[in-house]
Amino acid sequence: MKNLAKELQHPIFRIVSETAGQMGVPCYVIGGFVRDLLLRRPCKDIDIVAVGDGVELARQTAARLNLPEQAVNVFKHYGTAMFRYENMEIEFVGARKESYSPDSRNPSVTAGTLEDDQFRRDFTINALAISLSEADYGTLLDPFQGLEDLQHKIIRTPLDPEKTFSDDPLRIMRAIRFASQLNFSIDMKTLEAIHTEAHRLEIVSKERIVAELNKILLSRKPSVGFTLMDLTGVLDLVLPWVSKLKGVESINNQGHKDNFYHTMEVVDKIAIVSDNLWLCWTALLHDIGKPQTKRYQPETGWTFHQHEAVGAKMVPKIFRALKMPLNEKMDYVKKLVYLHLRPIALVEDSVTDSAVRRLLFDAGDDIDDLMLLCEADITSKNQEKVKHLLRNFEHVRQKLKIIEEKDRIRNFQPPIDGLYIMQKYGLQPCKEVGMLKNTIREAILDGVIGNNFEEAYRLLETEAAKLGLKAVQ
Ligand code: CTP
Repeated sequence: MKNLAKELQHPIFRIVSETAGQMGVPCYVIGGFVRDLLLRRPCKDIDIVAVGDGVELARQTAARLNLPEQAVNVFKHYGTAMFRYENMEIEFVGARKESYSPDSRNPSVTAGTLEDDQFRRDFTINALAISLSEADYGTLLDPFQGLEDLQHKIIRTPLDPEKTFSDDPLRIMRAIRFASQLNFSIDMKTLEAIHTEAHRLEIVSKERIVAELNKILLSRKPSVGFTLMDLTGVLDLVLPWVSKLKGVESINNQGHKDNFYHTMEVVDKIAIVSDNLWLCWTALLHDIGKPQTKRYQPETGWTFHQHEAVGAKMVPKIFRALKMPLNEKMDYVKKLVYLHLRPIALVEDSVTDSAVRRLLFDAGDDIDDLMLLCEADITSKNQEKVKHLLRNFEHVRQKLKIIEEKDRIRNFQPPIDGLYIMQKYGLQPCKEVGMLKNTIREAILDGVIGNNFEEAYRLLETEAAKLGLKAVQ
């Protein structure tokens, strides 16, 4: 039997072990920590299972560590307790047996053995335990060949997979998420059960589903997760908008790109260059308006006119449907979806400085993210075409840099604001103030006047006179 005593380097394990020894309670470190230890992935959450009173073990361990009593959070309802120590979260629970009713994720729980506890876990790789008891300290307890599955990179349930998923359908999302995060495959029977039980996801809260989607989006190759979602019918249930991107229609022998496949390429490329979750969401949703705007015209072939505007409008609806917060992150996704075609339109040599300034103004601080998205959006089967576009895209970057250095438009505040105009002409907030502000901003963006007070002031005087306004100061 494998012994991992040497791998349990942190002193906390010996302390738990001694405390449990004095209480006469066998205990084990179990679940994600053991999995990640074997995969050499960092893990800050430690789960301890005691065959006995887990809450009391938490209290006595905390006391040994000289932590105050209030440091231990007890969740009576679940029979668990946790405390933070250094930068780890350590959770304690008594070994248990669970039985589920079909309409809830909340099981009824009774005390059990370590094996009962391992049985109720989601995947063989998450059911591994290491003994902390003195007699066999460090021994790996692996009743379902989890170690072998780790080595073969396989996600498999310890029990009949249909039961595992029906008991707790969140595990459907977890299976796909682990496959994506760890780059593992899902065992055939487990995969079939995901397909059969996918409909049970309806009892899982949207917040939990989104937490898993976020982890898929942040994995090294998110397309692994989304392709599995598609294969099992989960995509249709969880992200129907993305599912609608699938497929190629052909008229007169002319087909368009499969927009799902294209989106997957973009999402994977973004995952390589950024760990900004919201940029990953933008990549996933950037073409979401395409199914609605798809047209075929014999002269031009397939078009998706205005798909960026339609897509941007869909963003709040999608966020609401997924119960995601409607905050500045959503505004960011919406804005970038809306702007995602703009940088590539600047590859033409004939592009004016004014167009570049407008893009800098509209994107503001998000210009760098928008450029990453737009660059990732360049995909084609024709590698020569991709190379050519990427070269031209480099020119766009140069143009942006030159104009930004010259005109400082990125966080541009016009040199004359509404308050100044109101005070000068003795006005309350009104249409005229808006018009004057607008004229000044547009003139600067168009390069008609420079981005400075003197030129803006001269323009203000001329325009105010046209409106019949007289200065009061
Ligand atoms: N678990 C389970 N079914 C769930 C959630 C969790 O069986 N729906 C079990 C697994 O054994 C898991 C452990 O509880 O390893 C701890 O769960 P959690 O902390 O949520 O997940 P981890 O596996 O640690 O992974 P991550 O932190 O990446 O979510």
